[in-house]
Amino acid sequence: MEKVKYTKVMKCDDLEIGKSAIISVGEKEIALFNYKGEYYAIENTCPHRGAPLGEGRIEEGILICPNHEWRFELKTGWCPQNPELHTETYPVKVHEGKIYVRLEKPKDQIAAGSSPTALPADLKVNVPTILKPRNPDEEL
Ligand code: FES
Repeated sequence: MEKVKYTKVMKCDDLEIGKSAIISVGEKEIALFNYKGEYYAIENTCPHRGAPLGEGRIEEGILICPNHEWRFELKTGWCPQNPELHTETYPVKVHEGKIYVRLEKPKDQIAAGSSPTALPADLKVNVPTILKPRNPDEEL
């Protein structure tokens, strides 16, 4: 059985609670969130018209696109407004203070690190700020 590879993308200390980062691997962009101390990775490009989901806000575990406010469940990518629409999510692991993302799909876009601790040469990290949620009771 093929061993599952996770790619180190950043240190936990570099992504505070309530913040997001956009990870670029070649043509692919992944939005990484620290939501209430848990890390989630989801396709950055909104399937509606391509806005960066990494700049969206989160309410009760639902990521809201900054452009037209379509919603996606952060854990699964499920779109409650249109169950036929789905955006890709990626498994995340934390090990020794570092965040690792499994970037295995599709195969031709796998980050080509030589080991799980190596950074792919074309991996870039941007750190936008998540907008304040509209619901003041919601903590990020
Ligand atoms: S671009 Fe995301 S909802 Fe329109």
